[in-house]
Formats: sequence, structure tokens, C-alpha cells
Amino acid sequence: MSRRTVIAGNWKMHKTLGEARELVSGLRQRLEALGSPADRIDVLIFPPATLLFPMAKAIAGSRILMGAQNAHDAAQGAFTGETSMRHVADTGCAHVLVGHSERRHVFGESAEFLARKVVSGLAAGLTVVYCVGETLAEREAGRTEAVVGRHLDEGLSADLDFSRIILAYEPVWAIGTGRTATPQQAQDVHQFIRSHLSKRFGGPVSDGMRVLYGGSVKPDNAAGLLEQRDIDGLLVGGACLSAEDFAAIIGSAVNRARQILS
Ligand code: PGA
Repeated sequence: MSRRTVIAGNWKMHKTLGEARELVSGLRQRLEALGSPADRIDVLIFPPATLLFPMAKAIAGSRILMGAQNAHDAAQGAFTGETSMRHVADTGCAHVLVGHSERRHVFGESAEFLARKVVSGLAAGLTVVYCVGETLAEREAGRTEAVVGRHLDEGLSADLDFSRIILAYEPVWAIGTGRTATPQQAQDVHQFIRSHLSKRFGGPVSDGMRVLYGGSVKPDNAAGLLEQRDIDGLLVGGACLSAEDFAAIIGSAVNRARQILS
């Protein structure tokens, strides 16, 4: 089954309005210069919440899609400082990240909270990019599959609309550390994710699910990761803050699509 490639950029807590406009305009220029079949790649940016409205304007008329990095599960209420999934949808976002390792480990979000966010993101009409991944200690203890399987079981259930869920495998030890999983290490976990989905939810869900890799993706390692059979795209942190680097990573995906078509 052919799954559309996704190249996503998580800006985290970076970029002011002026810097963000510059980044998107640089990205738009570079995307136009990418040859065919660039239209087979979904390009997705995750700006900070204050930039969602202006970035919706900045990407208008381009192929760039936008998502929020986080949102609360409640539809509305007394949650000072929080943003709801409906707020996110209001800005023109089509996507939301749920379960990023920084939400799990830095902000201590529980499995139950994240599961509720998946449901409420879908209810708000968004596509949920649900992140899973093990820490270094868990990998070294041989628990990678147990942890990733548990994250999948905690966040997903059979009644969800899987056509609006994308998964991201992000080993915590590779995020922001410059230490990328090798293509083979990543492929092994992606294959595990697909077989786990197949057992839980059946072949069509498993075959159709897009599973992205994230963790120190750079222009020079993107191609090797994208060659792997079960890797359907990349979730990029640091390298997406430069239009040149992010466009180079998108360029790797375009080259890969070209190879497959030829
Ligand atoms: P990184 O971040 O590319 O800077 O490692 C990836 C992520 O956290 O999504």
C-alpha cells in the first residue's frame, strides 16, 4: 500500500513573529524550486501557539500544512493558560501533536491525559500526530518494544478514526542530542509498530498508518531513514528552524518519491 510521505517540522519554543515569517517565506521559495513529484509529500509545520494565526496567513496558497504542538483535552473551561483543540482548529490548523516526549517527560503528562487528547483532537476535526518512544535507560534494559507497545495501547483504541491518526516514533535518547537512531534501528521499531497495530486493529489499519521517525534528523541522515520500508516520513526538530535545512530534508523525500516512481 502506498502511504503519502510526511515531512513535519516541530518548531518547539522557537521563533518570534518576524523570524517565523522569514522562515516560512524562505521555505515557500525553496519548495517552489523542488522538482516533481514534490506534490506527493505532505509538508507540515508546528509553530508555537501564539504564531498559529499569523502562520496560517503566511502559508496561505502554499502546500504547507500546519499543526499545534499541544492542546488541552477539555472543550472549554477553567484551565488558565491552556488552549483547547477547538482553539487550535479555529486557527486553521489541520493537525495537533500529542504525546511528544517533552510533554511526557518534562511536563509529566499522564497516559490517561494523552489518551483523552487523542480523542478530543479527533473530535475537533484535527489529524492527531501521536508520539511514542523509549528513553535510553529503557532501550539499554531491552524494553524498547514493551514501552513503545504500551504507548500505542495507552493512546489508541479500536473506535478511533485511524484515517486521521499519524504516529511518530521518537526515541527520547535521539531527541535534540545529535544522536540519531541508525536507519536499521529505526526500521526495526517501525516494523514492530506495524505488526503491533496489525495484531490490535487489523491489517488495513496497520498498512494504512503513516509512521514518522523523529530524533536528530538532519539533511545528511534523512535519505537513509526515508529508504526504510516502514518509515513514512520524518518529524524534525532543530533542523526545521532553518529554511535551507528543512527544504533539504524535504528534497530527500522528493528524491525518494522520484526513485520509487521510476
Ligand atoms: P530534534 O527534535 O530533531 O531536534 O532531535 C525532534 C523532535 O523532538 O520532534
